[in-house]
Amino acid sequence: MCGIIGYVGRKPALPILIDGLRRLEYRGYDSTGVALVQPSEVTVLKAAGRLSVLEGTLDYDAHPQTHGIGHTRWATHGAPTNVNAHPHADSSGKFAIIHNGIIENNRTLRTYLEQKGVIFTSETDTEVLVQLIAQLYEGDLEQAVRLALREVSGTYGMAVVCADEPDLIIAARKGSPLIVGVGQGEHILASDAAAILAHTTQVVYIGDNEIARITPDSLRITTLDAVPVAKETEEVEWTLDQIELAGYEHFMLKEIYEQPEALENCLRGRIDLKEGVIHLGGLADCARELTQAKRIIITACGTAWHAGLVGEYLFEELLRVPTETEYASEFRYRNPIIDEGTVVIAVSQSGETADTQAAIREAKQRGALVIGVVNVVGATIPRETDAGVYLHVGPEIGVASTKAFTGQVAVLALISCFLGRRKHLSPSAAMQFMKALSAIPDQIRTTLGHADTAEKVAREYASRENWLYLGRGYNYPVALEGALKLKEISYIHAEGLPAAEMKHGPLALITDGMPVVCIATTGSQYDKILSNISEVRARGGSVIAIATEGDKDIQDLADHVLYVPDTLEPLQPLLTVIPLQLIAYHAAVIRGCNVDKPRNLAKSVTVE
Ligand code: G6P
Repeated sequence: MCGIIGYVGRKPALPILIDGLRRLEYRGYDSTGVALVQPSEVTVLKAAGRLSVLEGTLDYDAHPQTHGIGHTRWATHGAPTNVNAHPHADSSGKFAIIHNGIIENNRTLRTYLEQKGVIFTSETDTEVLVQLIAQLYEGDLEQAVRLALREVSGTYGMAVVCADEPDLIIAARKGSPLIVGVGQGEHILASDAAAILAHTTQVVYIGDNEIARITPDSLRITTLDAVPVAKETEEVEWTLDQIELAGYEHFMLKEIYEQPEALENCLRGRIDLKEGVIHLGGLADCARELTQAKRIIITACGTAWHAGLVGEYLFEELLRVPTETEYASEFRYRNPIIDEGTVVIAVSQSGETADTQAAIREAKQRGALVIGVVNVVGATIPRETDAGVYLHVGPEIGVASTKAFTGQVAVLALISCFLGRRKHLSPSAAMQFMKALSAIPDQIRTTLGHADTAEKVAREYASRENWLYLGRGYNYPVALEGALKLKEISYIHAEGLPAAEMKHGPLALITDGMPVVCIATTGSQYDKILSNISEVRARGGSVIAIATEGDKDIQDLADHVLYVPDTLEPLQPLLTVIPLQLIAYHAAVIRGCNVDKPRNLAKSVTVE
């Protein structure tokens, strides 16, 4: 969703801001803009639509300014028009602001400002904020921002510039991420490390209710009450090539192919086969409390929710602790029951999803121990949870989550074995589990070797508007995930179902040649899923089976078979999801869809 970039330094700011906006595009947006500041003048350039629309209007030579801010907007208040795009200027044109989040009391503030004679040009809550700052300005931008934010309720990651203090950006944060990259004689402000990496890996994270005063040579952070906050500069572990296409046509494809390495990084140092133990430093301090958990609630959204559902099966099997997986948006509003001994695990790639954040706040308020399973280091969720485990799968740029899903499942598998050993899991069962988990990255490599079959399947059925995905047990969440992947990027209607539910309704949907993806790997429910496949075939459906290598018999039942290597049943999702990701990818490409930026979707959903 909305992205923020800011530059104060000695180089021309415009190309740096545009490059930063390009790196934020993946988050999803519908308009863009920049504000360039120089003594006594702020120039705002903005346009509805893709970044290329704005770029088409720019004359770089006409803008030597070395300070500025830029924004990608995802409309919440007001349509995605030029006028509503950020930056917003105040009526005098001296101030310009960019803002992520929502100013909840913007109507009251707007009425107050209108009574003072302010004339608004846009419908946005953001313009209210810049007009308020301008009203409160008495020669000190930082102070004006401080005073304005005292009047504001809601969330914000914001940055403001002023023509009277041209070498300065004032940024502030509440509930919406902001990072400052520290360079040589320059600072780069961004809502996402991806926009900073081209300049530096040294960053300072701005915390909630903090204000940053940023000039080329200084960075001072204070609380809203002006108390100085001492900050460490931290190293971002991501590299620039991780956020570039590196020869791939799309980020999604790159990220699918990165999974073997991503999972190696995720598992590295965590599985100790010699000692037969799992090391999870992030859980060390609360391992005892976790072991005593009487109930586990996993909360997440989207793909992370599907990973959470695999976690539910894992925890119940390996820990024998009742576990439920809740959509974060539902959990938060259902007056959840949190008893003593309830542990809440929030799963999130970005660590910024607004619903998931709200759910963990609710859980904490009710006294639960809250654990985060997050990919982005330093994001809001890991800062607000009691403990956690990072995925370490590297940046995920494609809106359709792929390597984060396998990373989330791998981490939940690690946690289940880590805690399982402290409970019922025998040393030999744990050892078998750890060995199988360690083999997964190579097995994903093998699975990716059969990518051409996935492309063939996509080619044959891409024109079909309705697909079904069936799975049982651990592969039921994979069926949901496979269907979601197809929906998100190819706009084909797809449903994931527990295979046995077919006969309770969805079987009526089967028509001649309807593609039905059946996850039919060997395991406790193999025979049952074969019966489900027969039911589909008997009604004329086309069966695309995901099966275990060596299973020749299934070829007689299926129109197409995509093979994955054999592994323990609880770890099968890490392999069976791979062909489904590839089918969705190729179907979207064949249908001419924008794979990395699907319509109406955002990578990181920071509004509820
Ligand atoms: C968005 C993304 C999904 C993602 C979901 C949860 O909808 O498009 O890919 O699964 O948010 O995001 P999170 O960052 O919390 O995992």
